[in-house]
Amino acid sequence: MARVLVTRRLPDGGLDPLVAAGHEILQRADDAPYTPDELRAAVAGVDAVVCLLTDRIDATVLDAASRLRVVGNVAVGYDNVDVAAAHARGIAVCNTPGVLDETTADLAFSLMLAAARLTSEAERDLRAARWTGWSITQYLGRDVHGATLGLIGYGRIGRAVARRATGFGMSVLHHTRTDTGEPGWVGDLHRLLADSDVVSLHVPLHDATYHLIGPAELAAMRPTAVLVNTARGPVVDEAALAAALTEGRIFAAGLDVFEREPEVHPGLLAAPRTVLLPHVGSASVATRTRMARLACSGAVAVLAGESPPNLVTV
Ligand code: DGY
Repeated sequence: MARVLVTRRLPDGGLDPLVAAGHEILQRADDAPYTPDELRAAVAGVDAVVCLLTDRIDATVLDAASRLRVVGNVAVGYDNVDVAAAHARGIAVCNTPGVLDETTADLAFSLMLAAARLTSEAERDLRAARWTGWSITQYLGRDVHGATLGLIGYGRIGRAVARRATGFGMSVLHHTRTDTGEPGWVGDLHRLLADSDVVSLHVPLHDATYHLIGPAELAAMRPTAVLVNTARGPVVDEAALAAALTEGRIFAAGLDVFEREPEVHPGLLAAPRTVLLPHVGSASVATRTRMARLACSGAVAVLAGESPPNLVTV
């Protein structure tokens, strides 16, 4: 029996693989995130950690965990875990690929529609009793059907968004660093930005994607374009985006992720035509439960000396 620290509350049934394997689960009663000091203290003497993207698993945490064999990150993105440092210490890292693609694509599409059609602004006015009656010139958004969608990143989630776009009669372009060899690939990022009515981000966060969308990229976009980010906040330079929205240099944005969550850049809070959600891309009961189970089952497998399919290998 191993000792497994679970840093936050998980959806009902999420712990099942750990329970079935008979491991001892250490979990606080509340759902408060650990501070870095608390986390370093909590990992001492545990064999596995099941954590969320709010936990920063850096070298100092790994050094405080002399028995640690595996980190199960309940997210597909693992930028919160220093994977190189973990591997250097012989510690495996698991994530949750494949179980949240469709749910996250649903959310990306709903942000695309909401931002393009100004539904948040319209609803805010209605609730605040500012709607004085139907007008033919009010809340004029941009059509999503028939538009050109530019996907930056073309992994599982990007492709799930592309499938939805086909049903809306959209033309779909995608940009990746290496040629996918598939129709719609655009090697030049600025070309894709200039040719798209809607740009949706689906890249992981790492050094090469930090502020991938900055002032020059926003300038390359059409003034009628919509930007959607369900990937990671730091992929976009938020100050530059807030300025572009405020000055009307792009039409709208739909954002589910932010550079310094849970803080949101004040410029974005004040910007027009901006739909802001609190990182809910994968937030359905079924998907969050699958994510928790997958991270836990990865940890169970590593503890049993196996090599699970959701091992992070880079
Ligand atoms: C992830 O899995 O990386 C998302 O951001 C949370 O679902």
